[in-house]
Amino acid sequence: MREKAFKPSKSEKRGLKQLKSTMKNILSIGISTGGSAEINMAKTCPEAKIVATTIDEKGLKFSIEKMSNYKEFAQIEAKIEDVSKPMPYSDNTFDYVYARLVLHYLDKQQLNDALNEIYRVLKSNGILFIVARNNKEWELTKPEFIISYDEVTNMTTYYEQWKKEVVRERQFLSEKQLEDILMQHKFKINSVKSYKERLFTDYERTKQNQSKKPNFLTEVVAVK
Ligand SMILES: C[S@@+](CC[C@H](N)C(=O)[O-])C[C@H]1O[C@@H](n2cnc3c(N)ncnc32)[C@H](O)[C@@H]1O
Repeated sequence: MREKAFKPSKSEKRGLKQLKSTMKNILSIGISTGGSAEINMAKTCPEAKIVATTIDEKGLKFSIEKMSNYKEFAQIEAKIEDVSKPMPYSDNTFDYVYARLVLHYLDKQQLNDALNEIYRVLKSNGILFIVARNNKEWELTKPEFIISYDEVTNMTTYYEQWKKEVVRERQFLSEKQLEDILMQHKFKINSVKSYKERLFTDYERTKQNQSKKPNFLTEVVAVK
């Protein structure tokens, strides 16, 4: 039976549009559910090797199981790797680094460390695509949803709107904050945008956030 693909999202589609068919090395930080974004990367870039990383053992196993139904899985190496730690790749390795909804888990120092490493492993003219939660997210407009904010780490601890008892921690990033951080790391900015998107609330991407408001995301496309 043909494997059912996971539902794509607006920001994922925008990230995949940045791909060029001639790309040879791609790094996807925070593998997508079932590796669906990475299979699409392999389809668009038939000569590319795609390295997809995560810190979630269970999610990795699930993604490998799903991806192994596609012939494009041969192009993909999926593994445990923490982006806040030094990466085991040579300088100037990757044509494209895709980081959708992952870098906002890092605190200020970890994000700086990760961006140093991403810059190092990107080729000259290589593209970095980032999507992170924006600080205009609905929860941040509601004091009763915010538990704490740490100025040193820039991390907010809060209740997620669609399941109020669930406590989350993120580094919310405005367009300006993300642009400034990337420029401090010597990236050239191609585009900065923020937009609404209803994120899926489960790992299998079957349920979208049906609560008060859609999510609000910051997207940056940067070049080394
Ligand atoms: C919300 S999911 C987004 C997945 C995918 N990029 C997408 O757009 O569908 C976050 C992913 O990032 C991974 N992740 C979280 N912290 C990470 C870290 N420090 N290093 C690498 N991956 C991380 C999680 O395990 C998970 O796979």
